[in-house]
Amino acid sequence: MRILFVGDVVGRTGRTAVSDHLPGMVKDWSLDLVIVNGENSAGGFGITESIYQELVDAGADAITLGNHAWNQKEALVFIDRAPRLIRPVNFPRHSPGRGSALIETKNGKRALVINAIGRVFMEPSNDPFSAVEREVEACPLREAADAIVVDFHGEATSEKQGMGFFCDGRVSLVVGTHTHVPTADHQVLPGGTAYISDAGMTGDYDSVIGMQKEEPLQRFLTGIPSGRFEPASGPATLSGVAVETDDATGLAVKIAPVRVGGRLAPAAPAFWLS
Ligand code: FE2
Repeated sequence: MRILFVGDVVGRTGRTAVSDHLPGMVKDWSLDLVIVNGENSAGGFGITESIYQELVDAGADAITLGNHAWNQKEALVFIDRAPRLIRPVNFPRHSPGRGSALIETKNGKRALVINAIGRVFMEPSNDPFSAVEREVEACPLREAADAIVVDFHGEATSEKQGMGFFCDGRVSLVVGTHTHVPTADHQVLPGGTAYISDAGMTGDYDSVIGMQKEEPLQRFLTGIPSGRFEPASGPATLSGVAVETDDATGLAVKIAPVRVGGRLAPAAPAFWLS
């Protein structure tokens, strides 16, 4: 199976990068499954129903969230009629929506997509490790799912590496999100799970993690907020990872970074370029 994970889409420029590049990638790379982190897609904070639809129309099979899941209040309601929208599984038990979804892929297979959120340098939440384990045990690889992807939304690379090794051999991909900066540690772990600490953001990299740099810089210099965070609006880099799995095992064979457009040096999966 060919899987593309697209890192945190930030604001309008991030959405434009998705609509400009994703349909071509789906076609050119014969993608079977596309997952997009959409928690910053509405002005940097949360997601609306029309943006959810826009991302689905561009080719996303599943859309994951994170700490900004509920910033747009309408998400609390429309998530229940948005079967491809997934919020962290370790949110409080009575949160609306779902923490995982079994998605039918473009080639008619079954993919379990799980979203979880970290606890290191993050707001309090339930234990992400036991929550992810519960989901995987309820829908194991090969028996009930042809692929399993875990989007682990966290600040600390240590916690994300821990999740990678915790899931190694049991899921196809553990991909870190939230820091908005791509890491260079993409690899297939010894047990066969593809892993990267952070997929990076799909946004304007002439910014502080996707936001116009003046206000964050001012806060670093003075410690005093003087305005709102506004998303940067220059051309975005679509940033993520491409993963190929073995259909017999559901485990990963290859992983490569993807970076298209904007300011970052381009990267594409050589193994899919013919
Ligand atoms: Fe986040």
